[in-house]
Amino acid sequence: MSNVILIGFMGCGKSTVGIRLSYKLRRVVEDTDKLIEKKADVLIKEIFATKGESAFREMETEILKDLQLSKEEKIISTGGGLPMRKENHTLLKKLGTVVYLRISPENVWERLKNDTTRPLLQCEDPLSKIKELLAMRAPVYEEAADIIFDVDGKDMEEVLSGLLIKLEESGCITGGKEDENTGN
Ligand code: S3P
Repeated sequence: MSNVILIGFMGCGKSTVGIRLSYKLRRVVEDTDKLIEKKADVLIKEIFATKGESAFREMETEILKDLQLSKEEKIISTGGGLPMRKENHTLLKKLGTVVYLRISPENVWERLKNDTTRPLLQCEDPLSKIKELLAMRAPVYEEAADIIFDVDGKDMEEVLSGLLIKLEESGCITGGKEDENTGN
């Protein structure tokens, strides 16, 4: 399948980039966190609180399996911890081109310091937690990715234009540079 799948740490911009890419490429965008919330009819932070993280991780794998059933080419943004399960790598690869949006811990902190929706960062020292998690996850993201794209120091327009070039070079999309509004 030739979906574009966005992976990376919390706050790297997967959801926003996903929405922007969906306009640009005229593809439906799906977000694994949103699909889980819809399926379970409850917020992610409540899933963590009532059922625990491992139940949430099971749901992520189930959603990846559900996504295999669609024949439509989509943009898929994923939760930051989803690639940590090895079996999810195979499911991601089957879905299409996996793009890792790479970000520094300092930038994550800058973006998420006032966020209350990420259960894993509701702790005493979120910056240390970000550093610790990112150090563990970075090699796994790299392993899962077909394309690695650095977002630090770039605004959204730079991220989008750079990413479209990489996606075209990889043969995953064609004609991605048309104007967002007019299609020209
Ligand atoms: C998580 C990231 C979140 C969400 C959940 C767990 C993680 O998604 O799936 O809170 O383990 O990194 P975002 O990456 O979209 O914030």
